[in-house]
Amino acid sequence: MYKYIIKGEKSLKGEVKISGAKNASLPIMAASLLTNEKIVLHNVPDLMDIRTMILLLEYLGKKIEFSNGRLVIEEIRDDLYEAPYDIVRKMRASIAVLGPLLARKRRAKVSFPGGCAIGPRPIDIHIRGMKALGAEIEIEHGYIDAVAKELTGKTINLLGTNGPSVLATENVMMAATLANGLTIIEGAACEPEVEDLARFLNSMGAKIEGAGTPFIKIEGVKELKSAEHRVIPDRIEAGTFIAMAGITMGEIKISDTNVKHIEYPIDVFSRAGVEVEIINESTIIARGKKIKPIEVETLPYPFFPTDLQSQLMALVSTSDGISIITEKIFPDRFLHAAELNRMGADIKIDGATAIIKGVEYLSGASIMASDLRAGAGLVIAALAARGESEILRIYHIDRGYEKLEEKIKSLGGEIERVPQ
Ligand code: EPU
Repeated sequence: MYKYIIKGEKSLKGEVKISGAKNASLPIMAASLLTNEKIVLHNVPDLMDIRTMILLLEYLGKKIEFSNGRLVIEEIRDDLYEAPYDIVRKMRASIAVLGPLLARKRRAKVSFPGGCAIGPRPIDIHIRGMKALGAEIEIEHGYIDAVAKELTGKTINLLGTNGPSVLATENVMMAATLANGLTIIEGAACEPEVEDLARFLNSMGAKIEGAGTPFIKIEGVKELKSAEHRVIPDRIEAGTFIAMAGITMGEIKISDTNVKHIEYPIDVFSRAGVEVEIINESTIIARGKKIKPIEVETLPYPFFPTDLQSQLMALVSTSDGISIITEKIFPDRFLHAAELNRMGADIKIDGATAIIKGVEYLSGASIMASDLRAGAGLVIAALAARGESEILRIYHIDRGYEKLEEKIKSLGGEIERVPQ
């Protein structure tokens, strides 16, 4: 295990290139199970969750080569349909193989993903969607065992109590590509990652319209074929670097991003005092100015994403007023608050709301990452804090950020990875 040692109070300056999106790459990789033909992907980030998905696909009969962001997937066995606990427990997004396996192999046995540090994470919507398409599903011995002689298109409303679900929308959309007839998903998630997956599926021969809106129409086809695709940039990584520029009073040119995908976060970070200049559709410059308190709710796309909540919290922990952040997606996703308080922040959690009273400065401390984004928030805080911080359990951060310390070092930040 490794930890980060970060020396704070360094202003980050320079240019950073945003990697491909983890949360677009993962379902797109899973979609390779919809064909026995070759898939070539570009701009795939090299990070732990991608390595876990590679392992899972290999377990399911694929042969994979991965270098410099290029991922080539070929099939060597077509009779495997089980996603084991050992892999699924490492990454909840493994559930994305359910729809493709069921659609193509008519059988899927996927370990039931448990909860995680960001709270309970049910999968009822996924199951509802698969059942609506005609699957029979049993949950036994910790596995979701799904069988379908055939899948038949339907109109399915996928809204849950906390709104749409990204992975359930993706799962049902993938399954419906090979179903008989027309599927209409109502209450679909509108995230850019859903749209990117649809673009990829269409390049394989699927017939999908409306992805990126709450209504997606999928006309089933007989088979899907070989395809090549470039994954969209990671909007959460871009937001993470905006927060870093803001808190360190730095100036970071953020390139290879998609400005359209981060319009709302840019607005929120600007209200929190980060000056964001849009250079063109893929480049911005974020400059730290005086940090201001904000009031914001996390909501599904296009609004402020839950995956940037901890980073924003770290930023406004040193504003000159009281900020209020309400979590509308994962109401328990606040484990980072206690760690930020260890650094001198003044954060109180009241249900799904965090009340953040700005303090003059944060001070370096030993802190622990509880999940990927919480870890990113702590890195942001440590970069600005007085003195040295030690962040434990950075394997959480490795799950979702490509070359984070290299990128931070290239901006002048002092960060080292050392054995824990
Ligand atoms: N939900 C249900 N039932 C379900 C599925 C979801 O009630 O069957 C609820 C969830 O508990 C939550 C809400 O619906 O309250 C939305 O969750 P969603 O299903 O959209 O989350 P997800 O698809 O499992 C993806 C991302 C997460 C990101 C969320 C929300 C991937 C691989 N993961 O998860 O990313 O936080 O959408 O935007 O796309 C991360 O990258 O750190 C991460 C956690």
